[in-house]
Order: sequence, then C-alpha cells, then structure tokens
Amino acid sequence: MKAIKKAAEIIRQGGLVAFPTETVYGLGADARNQEACLNIYKAKGRSSHNPLIVHVSTLAQGMKLAEFNDDALKLADLWPGPLTIVLPQKKDANIADCVTAGLDTIAIRIPFHSTALELINVSGCAIAAPSANKSGSLSTTSAEHVKANFGTEIFTLGTKQNCSIGLESTIIDLSTNKPTILRHGFFTLEIFEKLLNKEIKVADKDSKIKAPGMLLKHYAPITNIRLEANFLQKDEIGLNFGNSTLDTSHSLNLSIKSDLLEAALNLYNFLHILDNFCIKNNIKTITIAPIPHIGIGIAINDRLKRAGS
Ligand code: TXA
Ligand code: MG
Repeated sequence: MKAIKKAAEIIRQGGLVAFPTETVYGLGADARNQEACLNIYKAKGRSSHNPLIVHVSTLAQGMKLAEFNDDALKLADLWPGPLTIVLPQKKDANIADCVTAGLDTIAIRIPFHSTALELINVSGCAIAAPSANKSGSLSTTSAEHVKANFGTEIFTLGTKQNCSIGLESTIIDLSTNKPTILRHGFFTLEIFEKLLNKEIKVADKDSKIKAPGMLLKHYAPITNIRLEANFLQKDEIGLNFGNSTLDTSHSLNLSIKSDLLEAALNLYNFLHILDNFCIKNNIKTITIAPIPHIGIGIAINDRLKRAGS
C-alpha cells in the first residue's frame, strides 16, 4: 500500500502519524477525534493547556472551522505556507475539545509541503498536529529525528522533498482587534504590516494574549547553549554563522555564505548533530556565533534564546 494511503487509514482509524511539512515534522491525528488527539498530548508529554494547530488543505475547509475576518482573508493569500492564524472558532466546527485546550479560538494552517497536503486530502479531515518531538525538546526536520524521539511506535512518512524552511510557522493572532505575532517565523512583522496596512504587535512575556506553548524553555537540546559568542572556551563546540571562527574540528557552520534562510533550514539538524556529539564525547556546551537580527534571523534568535534558557 502506498505510504500516504496507509497513513491516511491510520488517521481515519484514530491513530497518530508523523508527517513532513515545509517547516518541521508534525505529529498528526484526526482533529475531530478527542481520544486520538489526547494521544498526541500523551505521546509528546505535552501540557493539556497547550493547544494544537489544525492543518487543512484549502481555505474553504478552514472557513468551516474559524470565523475569518478581513485581515485573515488578506493573510490567507500567504497560504499554503509557513503561517498559522489564530481566529475565533466556529460553534459548529466539530473539533475535539482538547485540540483548542478549552480556548474559544483555533489556530489554522495550510501547509505547503505536498506530502502534508496529500495526507490531509486522502484522510478527508482536518489534522491536528504539534511539532513531532517530545515536549520541550528540539523540533524535528527528518524522519530520523522523529524516530529518535518516538522510536518506531509512531508511523512516520518519509519524504524526498525535505522540510524547506526548517523552523516552525509564524503564528499571528487575529482573534482580537490588535493583530499580534505570537511566534516569529519565516513571515515577518514587516510583511504583515504591509499586507494589512496597520500596526502589528508582538506578544511579550507581559502580554495577555500569547501562545500558551511559548514557555521560555523550549526547543532545547540536552547540552548547554551559549549564545552570541566570539570565542570558544574549554569543553565547548562551535556553531558558526558566516565568517565567524568558533573553531574545533567538529564545529559546524549554519551558513558559510551568511544566508539566513540556509541557517534556518540547518538550525535544528545541526543542533541535533552537535547535541549527539557532545553527549557521546562529554562536551559541556554548544557555543553559537551571533546571528543577524533581521528577517528570519529574528525567528532563529528567538528559538536559540529559548533553547539556551
Ligand atoms: O510549523 C508549525 O507550526 C508546526 C508544523 C507541524 O505545522 N507545528 C508546530 O506546532 O510548531 P506546536 O504545537 O509545536 O506549536 C503550536 C503553537 C503552540 O505554541 C500553541 O500554544 C500555539 O501554537 N497555539 C495553538 N492554538 C492556539 C490558540 N488557539 N491560541 C494561541 N496559540 C495557539
Ligand atoms: Mg513545538
């Protein structure tokens, strides 16, 4: 049986499937099925207060689940892609309670990756999916990463077309009259301000509205992280950017040509590689060069800050 068909069958029967998206791998279940979605929380060790993103393949499918206002319809032009929009949930959405963690809003995303879209279509339902990693640890950008988190117990779709972004989607909350970025990603504040022609806020630790999942400690390797470093100390391994010189024989470079998109794409994979190396070789710290705070660099620095806190 074709892998997608098998995966869709598992989803329809209330099971879990790990699948690639253009951002990171997702751990999906039928978003209508409470028991199946509760199993996502169980598998990840995720707090029940932290709601899941609901993945659909068309705007029409999303509009059955959420109230789309004018701003949301404008930003929907960026779909399919690495964008999640939080909106008021429709009363008759038929989404399992645990997916929204009791909130009256719902987070919707149309992914770009063809495997993700095909899985949603063949399953015939919206798919609730957080990133496919144990809660608090590094997100996954390959089937091997998923296996390292969950073993072989979860059916995992491989892909020829890898994750092309490598960082989780930008989340924007459009459920209030103050559009607010809850999580930085590929699409930036400037893009939203241009498209909506209004001021966009960024949720900070004092904001009332924020993604419940944006706890400070998150996306973390097991090894310690030291940021914005210009030199290596004893027992450290370097993660460089551009022409930085944190050199040991096992250091890596996120992007020799200082390309932030390439750096975003390499980030989780390189952290996985260095983390494994450090654990094996009893190295204490992954030391990371400064990353320019522009474009997707803002999202990279956001994830690094959480990984290191
Ligand atoms: O790129 C992505 O977004 C990936 C792929 C698989 O789509 N998914 C992902 O999911 O990163 P997860 O669960 O790791 O992060 C989802 C975030 C959490 O911080 C959660 O709190 C927030 O979305 N979220 C979900 N529903 C929300 C809602 N109704 N209001 C505010 N935040 C919400
Ligand atoms: Mg996550």
